[in-house]
Amino acid sequence: MAAQFIKYIWEVPAVPLSFTLHYLKTQLFTTLPLPTTSYSSKTVIITGANSGIGLEATRHYVRLGAARVIMACRSTERGERAKASIALPAGNEAVIEVWPLDLCSFESVKAFCKRAQEELNRLDVLLLNAGIAMGEFELSEGYETTITTNVISTFFMGIKLLPLLRRTGIERNEESHLTFVASEAHYFTAFKERHEDKIFESYKSKGDHYWGDRYGASKLLEVLLTRELAETLDQRAGGPGKIPIIVNSVTPGMCGATSLFRSAPWIIAVIIRSMSWIIARSPDQGARILMAAAEGGRETHGKYIDSGKVHDPSKFALSDEGKKAGKKAWGELMEILETIEPGSTFMLG
Ligand SMILES: NC(=O)c1ccc[n+]([C@@H]2O[C@H](COP(=O)([O-])OP(=O)(O)OC[C@H]3O[C@@H](n4cnc5c(N)ncnc54)[C@H](OP(=O)(O)O)[C@@H]3O)[C@@H](O)[C@H]2O)c1
Repeated sequence: MAAQFIKYIWEVPAVPLSFTLHYLKTQLFTTLPLPTTSYSSKTVIITGANSGIGLEATRHYVRLGAARVIMACRSTERGERAKASIALPAGNEAVIEVWPLDLCSFESVKAFCKRAQEELNRLDVLLLNAGIAMGEFELSEGYETTITTNVISTFFMGIKLLPLLRRTGIERNEESHLTFVASEAHYFTAFKERHEDKIFESYKSKGDHYWGDRYGASKLLEVLLTRELAETLDQRAGGPGKIPIIVNSVTPGMCGATSLFRSAPWIIAVIIRSMSWIIARSPDQGARILMAAAEGGRETHGKYIDSGKVHDPSKFALSDEGKKAGKKAWGELMEILETIEPGSTFMLG
């Protein structure tokens, strides 16, 4: 493990000085104002809403008058406890609902989406925020748990709920939003799996590479796959701007006081906690950034958002090799989703 970690440090691409300066500057000096957009009559789903950044975003959507806010939580008990900490609008306590969702189980994702299709008459914002950084090697549904949670199930859910987002956009004549919560960790991955015949197959075992790299790889995959999803939707709709859904990815930046690194590999947790002590934002600031992405305009479609603005993703993501890896991962993901549930990719339109 120590030898693999040292090898991994050498393999991680050098981060350009421009990114380091941008990162320090935005972490230390960029603050977003209190969100003020009205969500009156809107329906919002937030995954991983019981803690950290997702919980703070939930508080804002409720404060901004959303008609229905669905907290998608793997533990409804933790979800209910978190709900109890949110100030509800007088006379409308039904505004928040806690629905069970375990991204480690494809059956749970299917059940959640079926319920959403049956019970929601609209869906304006789908904020796919839940994420994990595993410290022990574990499989969920046959793939390493970080990859199953952050990538496969998250995209499965996003794609399954496209018809509801699309219908809402058409009926309201206003774009609905599908936002994937990625991370600047996508800059710091060696992502050696891109050289394998099948990227996702290599996540079925511990493999030869430092597997603590998988959090960064999962976040890179989210950035690459968001771009592919946006392109696919545009192509199927007959050109850019024809689909009433905006799809984007966002990083909240490093936020302290969340549970994210509770199970991360210890060495990563030590590095992050030390950095976090100096430069972390509050989860509330992180939430404001996610919400800015989840109401972004057409210029954000397929793009990566950092500190409230469209920003270039990593050099690798922009490179020809990164684009090729994104297409390869997208093709594989489509096959996996068809295996989980035949016909699920028809939802792309
Ligand atoms: N904090 C940061 O510095 C930072 C930086 C960049 C990006 N991000 C991203 O921001 C997002 C939110 O992170 P956070 O910092 O707020 O961490 P957090 O407090 O740990 O929140 C993560 C949420 O995801 C949920 N979750 C994990 N596995 C799940 C599963 N299998 N099914 C359903 N929900 C699951 C957690 O539920 P449980 O409570 O049940 O575990 C929790 O509610 C993540 O996607 C993370 O990668 C965070």
